[in-house]
Amino acid sequence: MKFFVDSADVAQIRELAELGMVDGVTTNPSLILKSGRDIREVTAEICALTAGPVSAEVVATETAAMVAEGRRLASIAPNIAIKLPLTWDGLRACRVLTGEGRMVNVTLCFSANQALVAAKAGATFISPFIGRLDDINHDGAGLIADIRTIYDNYGFRTQILAASIRTVNHVTEVARVGADVATVPPEIIRKLVHHPLTDAGLATFLKDWARTGQKIL
Ligand code: G3P
Repeated sequence: MKFFVDSADVAQIRELAELGMVDGVTTNPSLILKSGRDIREVTAEICALTAGPVSAEVVATETAAMVAEGRRLASIAPNIAIKLPLTWDGLRACRVLTGEGRMVNVTLCFSANQALVAAKAGATFISPFIGRLDDINHDGAGLIADIRTIYDNYGFRTQILAASIRTVNHVTEVARVGADVATVPPEIIRKLVHHPLTDAGLATFLKDWARTGQKIL
């Protein structure tokens, strides 16, 4: 499973890229707001940190304006994936933009049928928001599993990009059911390495090593 970083924080993305954890990045209007940065400037900086896709989201809601914004965003760097909302206007824009050879990430997906129509419209990525489904007592990871089954049944090549990941368990759950990509906030990626038995085991090894009185270097 690929990791995208769900953030517009350049410093955090850079640090994770140095660890080899960044296969791409996703942003959205809320993350741009949080960054306090100009969308073109910050997106260009992020695109320079990874060769993978960097999602930048349109804010227009009508097809022609979405296409215009999408082309503008795509002019920032060759690795931009244009993010479009899952509406009929968004899917029309998806067909136009993918027809021009551009990557499109169809976002705000909350049902298997939405994922099906996005794949038929030629989306490069579909972004089901699993945390927001769990928030309302639905089964976010179950949706990823359903989409996996449907896409595999018919050979759709749209990549499943599990989004709205809130916990380390979400990462395991979406990996188990075959998401192609998980877009994960930096703080959750950092938590993936932690295990109390690792910490306890390391402390014991270091204590025992000190008692040997030896040095490696
Ligand atoms: O990738 C979408 C993500 O940013 C939404 O996350 O936590 O706002 O539901 P959240």
